[in-house]
Amino acid sequence: MRFLEQLSLKLTFVLKSLFFLQYIPHALFYSFKRDRINRQYLPDSSSSPVIQPGKLLQAQATDRGADFYFEQAELEISFLTAELVRVNWFPGLPPIPYAIANQDWETVETTLSELGNDWAIASDGLSVIVGRNGSLTFCDRAGQILREELPPQRQGETWIHQASLQSEERIYGLGERASSLNLRAAKDELQKHKTYQMWNKDPGGRYTPGTDPIYICIPVYLGLHDRGSYLIFYENSFRAEFTFADIASAIFAGGSLRYYMTVGEPSQLMEHYTQLTGRAPLPPRWTLGYHQSRWGYRTEANVRQEVKAFQTHNLPLSAIHLDIDCQVGYRAFTIDPKRFPNLNSFTQELVKKGVRFIAINNPGIKFTRKSNLFLEGQVLNGFCTYPTGELAIASVWAGPLVFPDFTNPKVRAWWSRQYAYLLDVGVAGFWHDMNEPAAFVSWGDPSLPQVAQHCLEGRGGDHREAHNVYGLLEAEAAYESIRQYRPQQRPFIVSRSGWASLQRYAWTWTGDTISTWEALRQTVATVVGLGLSGIPYTGPDIGGFQGNPSAELYLRWFQMATFLMFYRTHSSTSVAPRTPWSYGEPYLSIVRSFLQLRYRLMPYFYTLAWETTQKGYPPVRPLFWSSWSDRSLWDVEDAFYLGDALLVCPIVQEGEQTRMISLPQGHWYNFWNDSMIEGGKTIELEAPLEQIPLLVKAGSILPMEENQQLVLHLYPPVKRAGGENPIQISYTLYSDAGDGYGESRLDGFYLIRQEKSLELVWEQQGNYGFPYQRVQLHVHGTSVQQAWVDEKETTVHGEQLQCHFFRQIRFGCN
Ligand code: NOJ
Repeated sequence: MRFLEQLSLKLTFVLKSLFFLQYIPHALFYSFKRDRINRQYLPDSSSSPVIQPGKLLQAQATDRGADFYFEQAELEISFLTAELVRVNWFPGLPPIPYAIANQDWETVETTLSELGNDWAIASDGLSVIVGRNGSLTFCDRAGQILREELPPQRQGETWIHQASLQSEERIYGLGERASSLNLRAAKDELQKHKTYQMWNKDPGGRYTPGTDPIYICIPVYLGLHDRGSYLIFYENSFRAEFTFADIASAIFAGGSLRYYMTVGEPSQLMEHYTQLTGRAPLPPRWTLGYHQSRWGYRTEANVRQEVKAFQTHNLPLSAIHLDIDCQVGYRAFTIDPKRFPNLNSFTQELVKKGVRFIAINNPGIKFTRKSNLFLEGQVLNGFCTYPTGELAIASVWAGPLVFPDFTNPKVRAWWSRQYAYLLDVGVAGFWHDMNEPAAFVSWGDPSLPQVAQHCLEGRGGDHREAHNVYGLLEAEAAYESIRQYRPQQRPFIVSRSGWASLQRYAWTWTGDTISTWEALRQTVATVVGLGLSGIPYTGPDIGGFQGNPSAELYLRWFQMATFLMFYRTHSSTSVAPRTPWSYGEPYLSIVRSFLQLRYRLMPYFYTLAWETTQKGYPPVRPLFWSSWSDRSLWDVEDAFYLGDALLVCPIVQEGEQTRMISLPQGHWYNFWNDSMIEGGKTIELEAPLEQIPLLVKAGSILPMEENQQLVLHLYPPVKRAGGENPIQISYTLYSDAGDGYGESRLDGFYLIRQEKSLELVWEQQGNYGFPYQRVQLHVHGTSVQQAWVDEKETTVHGEQLQCHFFRQIRFGCN
């Protein structure tokens, strides 16, 4: 039997490999053409002189900052808030504000002063010292120097921007990276510095730790050193290269040198950055459940069978993702009516079982006059062309394709309309794939030529500028479509590629990872790095996209992903089908228990999603998030916080049943047994197969739900030594209908620890009815003797208390 299974897998693999051969001739032809056209038209800046600003001639205060006139450049410094400043060097091609969500800023008081040879422009939160030669120094409110920049350089269309880094300084961000969390960390001794490309790229069906670039490059990074932290975002979508050694350098192939600097603690930086580039809207609640996907569900029957198996195995499921196999000839916006003959009723049948139908879509349009989409796009002049005006044609799954130019507003509007009929038949959301945009090539860059022409909102430009925003603008079109055609429900879009501000429109996933332990470990750094680049919703293909993970690897991957926002198993067509029951027992039962835990934690996840709408915080955070000055946490890249309360330490090594973790200061409860652990040191934690180390911060309220009951897990703060003073912590729980734009409510819980008692106060706000029938309180880590609900004495069972509404509960405890 085993032999037959293996044989069938091998045969499928061979057949699928033969299938890929059909793309080779066009890929060869295209690769030649791309190179030839690039050679012919690509501007070359290398022979142009390098120009520096020269001497500062004059400084002039403006409404929100100051302008500085140099011999060969002008500099405009504008404070958008007291801690967020925009720096703009001229001359240069102004960017199209695709990433900017907020154009309307209140006035900020600033003062311009002369400091010896230099000038300073300051608000009460941040000051910028402008040197006579164009160097800039950024200081925080306390006058601490956070960043020192060299005068910028311009060579033809190229901009070179450099800053000196502190020796201990760490750098995080740049979007989606398969690198160390700290981008400055050299992977080996010989590599003294790290270079990262800004050019969204499909790594060709697989990538490994170290592959660069991958799908989402964002020119934003967070610098952290002993004096504090700052964040810089370059509003420049051109192809670029970033290097971090003693000097941080950013080299842009064109555009202008416009960037934003902000200072503060990491959480404040994310707040400021998302104030500028926008925050992720609240997703529908079901999206936070489990998603099952596979490149290989071809028919309605396949999907029905899979959903049934989830029910049979008693496994919760929220969504099923359909890959290109559901389409007609892999064409955009199609679902094969022969294989999905009753889509409308089928999607309803799934919804009754709590499962949403998600369809894939790729941006390329089949190059044939038989395609209406092709004809319509042609009428709009809506496809990317070569500089000669000829259509740029490259192959992806559907064969030779043309590429909609999403930088044309008419094309975005046209694209938006295409989702309507799928929304009408109940497709609940879309995943956008191959939108770097990807193209099949025999060598070189797997995308459109750098000189391909784009509309760029009417001002015109080429692919060097439009490439990185391609997926972002496709996501915007889809988001607007769902808002327009299904106004009562919130959009759910997952986009493989994107740029700064993608969070406003879409989630993402970490693409075609391989099924190895190293890739599992890498996922943590990639997800945390994305979060620090403003993208809060992401997750990996559980088990890896390419390869057949062992049962242990799948399980450990599953356990880790239980605590990430996007929770989806997906795998390639060339690997064995992968589901929670693929590995039998004990794996199935353990996976089930983690799935159940995830659904119990839903109020916690949903409230984190709401917090993201308010503050822009990524729910998945690095360990230095609230202890930035603790150097021992700066390089932890195999553990993360989920919100403020949970610290997750996944197992990322084969056979490991314990693991070490460098813990932040404070006290921690072991989630599995309530034992108390003191932080501020490195400790070892147990990790039998059925658990991963999971810690709860002392001084947390962790909300869970079970059988229409809200279970509040109270993890009291630790009493201060000899401390008389009460310690108070609070937690705000967010609830609403789970979708749509109706009423909502906030339940504020205040937990006060006195010498011999614990008090919980509940305050309610908002018009949405309380969604639970009962409340259960579960006190951890302390033995409860008595309880008074609104001053009435009540029985406590063990550590648990059942109740309905209350204003105040007092527990008598040790
Ligand atoms: C590449 C995507 O990254 C992967 O998830 C998908 O299964 C394949 N394309 C096929 O559509």
